[in-house]
Amino acid sequence: MNNEELLRKYNVPGPRYTSYPTVPYWETSPTQDEWIASVARSLTGEESPADSGMERQECGAAVYVHVPFCSHSCLYCGCNTRFTRDYKMAHGYVASVLKEWDLYLDLLAKKDARLARPKAVKLSELHVGGGTPTYLSPEDLKVLLGGIIDRCERDPQAEFSIEADPRVTKREHLQALRELGFTRLSLGIQDFDPQVQETVRRVQDEALVRGVTGTARELGYTSVNYDLIYGLPRQTLASVTDTIEAVRRLKPDRIAFYSYAHVPWIKPAHRRWSDADIPSGDAKRALYETGRRLLAEAGYREVGMDHFTLETDALWKSSREGKLHRNFMGYITRQVSPLIGLGVSSIGDSWNVFAQNEKVLEMYDSRLAKGELPLHRGHVLTAEDRVLRYHILKLMTRFETSWENPALRVPFMDTLAERLEELVNDGLVELTATGARITGAGRPFVRNVCMAFDARLVRKAPTTSLFSKAI
Ligand SMILES: C[S@@+](CC[C@H](N)C(=O)[O-])C[C@H]1O[C@@H](n2cnc3c(N)ncnc32)[C@H](O)[C@@H]1O
Repeated sequence: MNNEELLRKYNVPGPRYTSYPTVPYWETSPTQDEWIASVARSLTGEESPADSGMERQECGAAVYVHVPFCSHSCLYCGCNTRFTRDYKMAHGYVASVLKEWDLYLDLLAKKDARLARPKAVKLSELHVGGGTPTYLSPEDLKVLLGGIIDRCERDPQAEFSIEADPRVTKREHLQALRELGFTRLSLGIQDFDPQVQETVRRVQDEALVRGVTGTARELGYTSVNYDLIYGLPRQTLASVTDTIEAVRRLKPDRIAFYSYAHVPWIKPAHRRWSDADIPSGDAKRALYETGRRLLAEAGYREVGMDHFTLETDALWKSSREGKLHRNFMGYITRQVSPLIGLGVSSIGDSWNVFAQNEKVLEMYDSRLAKGELPLHRGHVLTAEDRVLRYHILKLMTRFETSWENPALRVPFMDTLAERLEELVNDGLVELTATGARITGAGRPFVRNVCMAFDARLVRKAPTTSLFSKAI
């Protein structure tokens, strides 16, 4: 079967596996106390991903902060955002998130004396996403992020990263963030073609992006990522080629090359395009294949699903050393647990428990005003979930997994061979009695392989649209 036929055969809707179980299958929300207890045990090392077979790593908490505000509405966007030109709202939000962080630190200290304030919690990762984090003024970023950092002990190897929209990101933002210790910047680019940019209402020319990238480098940021999307309206093979040409000229360290998730049932803005406007089927697959080939020619190595990096970037080194990890923030250079999510809609993960915050700002604020963590829903993992989570994570980060250790085998895996049969016959996976390995040809189909390990999906197929297609 040639590449095109394979892509056609396996292009089915499927999860992106930023978590297992995936969010639509969460069923047992933790109470606030259960969640805090699990985070505390994770911070003191009593509970760890190593209990489920993961490599043991010495580090502290990862914190994700969600800043939902945007001053522009980009039509393709599928993220949790809030459009507002009323800056007062953002100013109030800074105070709310700091209040949430204080509440966490108080509850953790109450739960375990070893986590007494000040500074008993070690901060190993800080990632700020959105929305548009640089919607906040440099002063407010300093208050918010400086406030989070100052209340912890900082791991000397801590990594801080932030997502930014080049149109609103000024030197003063980058300077303030650099002073706080940020070294990683992720720019939302999506496409460099002017026509595509007009169509998706995200106009930013190469000169602007060059300026922000150059300023970041000059200030000492060591890794600049560009987010690109394939499958947007009006994209053609020529526009993708031009986009990757621009990437070649600007040389970001990393690329995330996402499939456009068309979710009109969630995002009304997506309804303005008809199916005919959006590349699909063979046309969309050709955009992906072209982009992937051109990125390889430009020296970018594939490190996991949708992610590419230059060999000089830390993510490549981590991938070579088998340390690559994936969580709700995407791919990261090492496993850090627990992950605490701050801000509206953020997700936390203690390895054994997931917890997501309220998605609506007013609800988030009102829960905090009552002195509660603004938890909205979550999931306490079962023993089976933890084993399957291990395998799915290994496949997403190493393209292989093993269950030589009998503790890493659950009865659901007895029927794995049946579910993987076609992928094995098509040369995409190699399966033995104690392991599975995705071949080079199988890499674009990593999520199809993970779906064979997804007991919850196999037992209860979705009856409505939940996931976008693989390609
Ligand atoms: C959470 S957004 C926030 C980034 C930032 N506000 C910006 O756009 O500059 C992060 C990335 O998600 C990706 N993204 C957003 N909507 C998407 C969609 N519908 N399909 C695929 N990727 C999408 C984009 O590549 C975007 O840069």
